[in-house]
Amino acid sequence: MDTQFQTSGTPSREEISAEVQAFLAEQEQKTLLRFLTCGSVDDGKSTLIGRLLFDTKLIYEDQLAVLERDSRKHGTVGDDFDLALLVDGLEAEREQGITIDVAYRFFSTPKRKFIVADTPGHEQYTRNMATGASTADLAIVLIDARRGVLPQTRRHSFIASLLGIRNIVVAVNKIDLVDHSQKVFDTITADYHAFAKDLGFESVQAIPMSARFGDNVSTRSNKLAWFDGPTLIEHLESVPVDEGLAEKPLRFPVQYVSRPNLDFRGFSGTIASGRVSQGDPIVVAKSGKPSTVARIVTQDGDLASASAGQAVTLVLADEIEVSRGNMLVAPDTRPEVAEQFEASLVWFDEKPMMPGRSYLLRTETDQTPASITALKHRVDVNSFAHEAANSLDLNEVGVVNLSTQEPLVFDPYAQNRVTGAFVLIDRLTNATVGAGMINHGLRRASNVHWQSLDVNKPARAEQKHQKPVVLWFTGLSGSGKSTIANLLEKRLFADGRHTYTLDGDNLRHGLNRDLGFTEESRVENIRRVGEVSKLMVDAGLIVLVSFISPFIAERRMARALVEEHEFVEVFVDTPFEVCAARDPKGLYAKALRGEIKNFTGVDSPYEPPESPEIHLQTVGRSVEDMTDEIEDWLKQRGYI
Ligand code: ADX
Repeated sequence: MDTQFQTSGTPSREEISAEVQAFLAEQEQKTLLRFLTCGSVDDGKSTLIGRLLFDTKLIYEDQLAVLERDSRKHGTVGDDFDLALLVDGLEAEREQGITIDVAYRFFSTPKRKFIVADTPGHEQYTRNMATGASTADLAIVLIDARRGVLPQTRRHSFIASLLGIRNIVVAVNKIDLVDHSQKVFDTITADYHAFAKDLGFESVQAIPMSARFGDNVSTRSNKLAWFDGPTLIEHLESVPVDEGLAEKPLRFPVQYVSRPNLDFRGFSGTIASGRVSQGDPIVVAKSGKPSTVARIVTQDGDLASASAGQAVTLVLADEIEVSRGNMLVAPDTRPEVAEQFEASLVWFDEKPMMPGRSYLLRTETDQTPASITALKHRVDVNSFAHEAANSLDLNEVGVVNLSTQEPLVFDPYAQNRVTGAFVLIDRLTNATVGAGMINHGLRRASNVHWQSLDVNKPARAEQKHQKPVVLWFTGLSGSGKSTIANLLEKRLFADGRHTYTLDGDNLRHGLNRDLGFTEESRVENIRRVGEVSKLMVDAGLIVLVSFISPFIAERRMARALVEEHEFVEVFVDTPFEVCAARDPKGLYAKALRGEIKNFTGVDSPYEPPESPEIHLQTVGRSVEDMTDEIEDWLKQRGYI
C-alpha cells in the first residue's frame, strides 16, 4: 500500500518483514486525525486530496504511469497530469464530472496518520457527509477563491457542526486564479467567520492555497508570502484531536451472545468507548443488573484490559441475562435508557419524512421500530433559522421527538458520537432514509408504566366465547368496504358475537375531526385507528375497520400493534373506474373537477396490499356472496 516499503532492487522477505515491523511500530506511536473534505463540485476537492496524497509521497510508481496515460485521455490541465484523476476512481464520475460515493484514503507524515473521507458535493451530500463524518475530527471546507462563500459552504458547515465536528479548515482554493490576492482571501475569511460564529467550532483556520500547483498544501509559496499562517499539512499535523473514545465511560454494545459449549458463555462486540479490565464492575444497561468482568477473551488469548475499538468477548462472573442489542456499561456513569427522546435529524430520502410513520431505528447494535411523534422545527440550512414544518424533504434538517417500540440505550450525541447516533430505515424499501443525533431522553413518558390488569384479554375473550380479531377492510372510496363490513357485522351480531365497527367517515366526525387528507393526516388517521382497534381487541371484541388506509406502511404498523393472528386484512378490490362510476357520495365527480384536493386515486396514491388474508375482487359479485366468503374464512380458522 505504501511507497515507504519500497526499496531499490528486490528486497528479501526478511528485509520486507523487518521494514514492515519497523514501520508499523513507528505508525503505532502516531496520533490519528480523521477528516473530511466538503465543497461544491468545482471547488477542486479531488485535486486537493490528490495533492495531499501526492505530496505525502504515497503514490505507487505504477499508479503514476496509469495517471499520466489517463490524464491525456480525460484530463483538463494540459500536459501536467490531473491530480483529480487519482481520486475520482470511478469511471462514471469522470464522465459526469462529479464525485459519487464516500471514499476513504489513508496517508501519513512523520508526525501523524490521516484518514480522509471524500464526500461529494452534489445533491446526495447530506447522506454522504453523515456517513463519512460521524467520526471525523476536522472538516476541510473548500471555497473557490473566484466564487467566495456559497450556499453550499453554509450548508456543509452547518451539517459539519451538527455532526459534532469541532475543527474547520477554510481552504480558499484556486488562489492563483485571483492573482494570489490577499484582499480576496481576507474578504472570504471575514464572510466565513461572520456566519460560522454561532456554529460552535473550536478552531477555524483559513488557508489560501492552490491545490493544483501545490501552493500552501505542503509547501509554502513565494506568491503567498503575505500569509503568515500554517500550510495545510502543518495545520493538519498540529491541530489538537479530540479526547479519544477510550477516555469516555465504558460502553460495550453486545453484538451477540457467544455460547460454543455449555461451559462457556460470553458477550461479543466491539468496545464503543472507554476501557475495561479484568475484575471491573459493570452493569447491564437496560436491566441495571450488576456483575464483574471475569475474563476478556480474544482470538489471540485473554487480555488483562482492552479499550475502545477492540473486538472482544467478555465473560462475566455471574449468570445474568444480556440480550443482543443491550450494553454492558460502567456502573457509575450509565447511559440513558428511554423510549422517547429528542434528536436532530438529517433527512436524505426522496420521499419526505412523515411524523407518525413507523421506521426502523438502528444504532450500532440495536434496532427497534420507531416513529417521529413531533417535528419541533425545521432548520433552514442557509440562514440557520428555525421554521415550523409538517415534514422534512430531501436534505432537510430538523429537530424531532421520537418514540421507540422498545427502550433504547444511548448517550447524548454531544457526549458520545458512537452511542448517540442512529439511522432510520424505510421498512418497505430497506433504504436508509435519515441520520439522527440524540439530544436527550424525554423523561415524561419513561414514568408511565403499562398497568398489568387482572381482568385481561384472554379472560374477556373467553367470557365472550370468541377470538378477538381486527378485520381490516382497505380499498378505494366507494369500493364497498362499509357495505360489506356492515352486512358482516349484522350477521355476526345476530349470531351473538361481540363486535364493533370503526368507519372512516364516522371517526372523522369525532376522534379524527382534526384531520384532513394530506399524507401526514392520513398517516395519523390510521395510527389512531390502529391504536383504538388494539384496545378493542384487548377488550375481546371482533373489530371491523373500514378505512381507505391507502399506505402499506401504516397498514403494516396497525398489524404490528396486535398479535400475529389478530389481524386480518381484507382487500376490497374495486377498480378506480368502477368506483368513480358508482360515486355514491358524488366525491369523484368533484375531485375530477379539481374541487377536492388529495382525493385517493385521483391526486393521492393508493398502495394495494401485497398479500392480504382475504382478497375480494368485487366486480360481478354480490355483497352477500363476499360476506359469505369472509364468514367461511373466519369459521375455517376457528375465529367464530
Ligand atoms: S384514509 O385515507 O385516511 O384512510 P378515510 O377512510 O378515513 O381515509 O376517509 C375516507 C372517506 O372520506 C371517503 O370515503 C370519503 O367519503 C371522504 N373523503 C373526503 N375527502 C376525501 C379525499 N380527499 N380522499 C379520500 N376520501 C375523502
